Amino acid sequence: MYTSIIETANWLRNKMPNQPQTAIILGSGLGKLAEEIKNPYRIPYQEIPNFPISTVEGHSGQLIFGQLGETDIMAMEGRFHYYEGYSLKEVTFPIRVMNELGIKTLFVSNAAGGMNPDFEIGDLMIITDHINALPDNPLRGQNFPNGPRFLDMHEAYSHALIEKALKIASEKHISVKQGVYLATQGPTYETPAEYRMFRTWGADAVGMSTVPEVIVARHCGMQCFGISIITDLGIAGKICAVSHEEVQRAAEAVQPIMADLMREMINRA
Ligand code: HPA
Repeated sequence: MYTSIIETANWLRNKMPNQPQTAIILGSGLGKLAEEIKNPYRIPYQEIPNFPISTVEGHSGQLIFGQLGETDIMAMEGRFHYYEGYSLKEVTFPIRVMNELGIKTLFVSNAAGGMNPDFEIGDLMIITDHINALPDNPLRGQNFPNGPRFLDMHEAYSHALIEKALKIASEKHISVKQGVYLATQGPTYETPAEYRMFRTWGADAVGMSTVPEVIVARHCGMQCFGISIITDLGIAGKICAVSHEEVQRAAEAVQPIMADLMREMINRA
């Protein structure tokens, strides 16, 4: 695994037009921000040695190097999910590569089902913490020498970045919620009983991504910031059928606002 990471990092280093310290993962239907990347240099995942290939509709699957405002960034348009059949080591392979390339801060976005009764479809939720409800942990197995065997997770999401996001949101009159994101293995959405259970566990939103990437990013010492777009509700009385198309449509509608917040966060880094 380590050899593959180094090989991929070396391959990318020879092609990278810049030396970003910031990376963004754009989740399902959240590619809007990618359109704003200046001088974009795109590399489809299938061209990158050792990279898994995204199989989900709505995830186009490419790395983009360029600038957002004045800041050099690299973006993943499309990510890998456990439900696609990848191991969590494969899901988080790009994060290990980012670390080799010098990334210090990771921004993540996703679509999620809201379980907090104060939430509505279309809300933005700043992720304050997470619950790993996947059946595995990406750090299981031989420890990578660059991080601790037993990783502290008391500040998985940088408090300083959360404070900064709240300040920007308030200045720009963007209304944001805050909450705990729980990741399941998917690919099923939740039954009403599962939504109820996850709510009692202390989660505000549920989705199928982000947690493995953030665990590995923290293991590499990166600062993390995450936003969920609430695309459906797992709240008693408000639960209705969910489809991937509806999730994407709901995400599509609010993504300009999320993009605005993310862009400003990155520019003020
Ligand atoms: N559950 C799990 N994943 C999701 C949901 C949900 O309700 N909405 C978007 N992704």
